Amino acid sequence: MIEVKGLTKYFGPVTAVNDISFVVDKGEILGFLGPNGAGKSTTMRMITGYLTPSEGTALIGGKDIVSRGLEARQSIGYLPENAPVYPDMTVLGFLNFCAEIRGFSGKDKHHRVEEIIERCFLSEVRQQSIDTLSKGFKQRVCFAQAILHDPPYLIMDEPTDGLDPNQKHEVRTMILEMAKEKAMIISTHILEEVEAVCTRAIIIAEGRIVADDTPKNLKGMSRLHNTLSLDLEAKEGVDFQKELSTFSWIREVEALGARGGDEAVLRLRIRTGNPPWDPERELWRFCCQKGWTVVSLFREEGRLDEVFRMITAPDRGN
Ligand SMILES: Nc1ncnc2c1ncn2[C@@H]1O[C@H](COP(=O)(O)OP(=O)(O)OP(=O)(O)O)[C@@H](O)[C@H]1O
Ligand SMILES: [Mg+2]
Repeated sequence: MIEVKGLTKYFGPVTAVNDISFVVDKGEILGFLGPNGAGKSTTMRMITGYLTPSEGTALIGGKDIVSRGLEARQSIGYLPENAPVYPDMTVLGFLNFCAEIRGFSGKDKHHRVEEIIERCFLSEVRQQSIDTLSKGFKQRVCFAQAILHDPPYLIMDEPTDGLDPNQKHEVRTMILEMAKEKAMIISTHILEEVEAVCTRAIIIAEGRIVADDTPKNLKGMSRLHNTLSLDLEAKEGVDFQKELSTFSWIREVEALGARGGDEAVLRLRIRTGNPPWDPERELWRFCCQKGWTVVSLFREEGRLDEVFRMITAPDRGN
């Protein structure tokens, strides 16, 4: 597992990372979230031994990254931010080089490099020099070097940044496939990615951890969690808000106006007090009895982007 203990980094007067501690077990994919400048990359650089912590340390499979750096780094795959790869090497040359410094040689090296070229969709550019690659292809090369030696610990700083939607999907699939045998930390600004792949998420702001929970529980903190979203066909002379408010378990009905500029459909958000077991069904029945046309009705799970904003920019409203 990865054990982060009181990591702190000062850059002159700036405290970029402030006493961060957490543990990531095998089988876990930890999403690392936070606004720009929150300290995600700096934390990852310290965990992978690229930056020396001002205070604290990280244990990688029990090995201290500060005092046993080389051993600890052998079991890490690291995808740094902005894909820093040697521009004047070819893709094949670079991956061969990475395989060699990871200790592979001969047939074994050849097989690994060929396999990774295929897995990371790099066949068509294998002989191309890296500086002539598009941004997404550079990112793929960097991803390839991170997983080349099949490390048990993977630290990836925005792994899908710059990838097209198909490649984003491929990379997420690969991450999920590898998840069982590895402990992973992934930073991202794509909140759907967190929901799609992460078993847990840590939100950091101004160098500190401000939330640490499963994506589902984080969504549960949303103001919208368990509200009902109801779209009704507009009806002359009917005040839906007023009529719905008489329902015993409905606490508040908020009119959100016409749906997507369509004057014929009104959108309502309903907050419930002590709802019945199946509020959607009750509500649907009620609307039918009234002779209203329900265009759509669903229960909101809550939204990670809203929770992210609430936690990291509480004073800026919505
Ligand atoms: N080498 C450095 N020297 C001085 N300050 C630095 C250095 N590296 C990072 N910082 C500062 O540390 C803070 C955290 O930066 P970091 O790159 O870790 O943020 P981040 O969370 O990864 O942001 P982003 O989402 O933009 O990638 C920022 O204020 C940044 O300016
Ligand atoms: Mg960063």
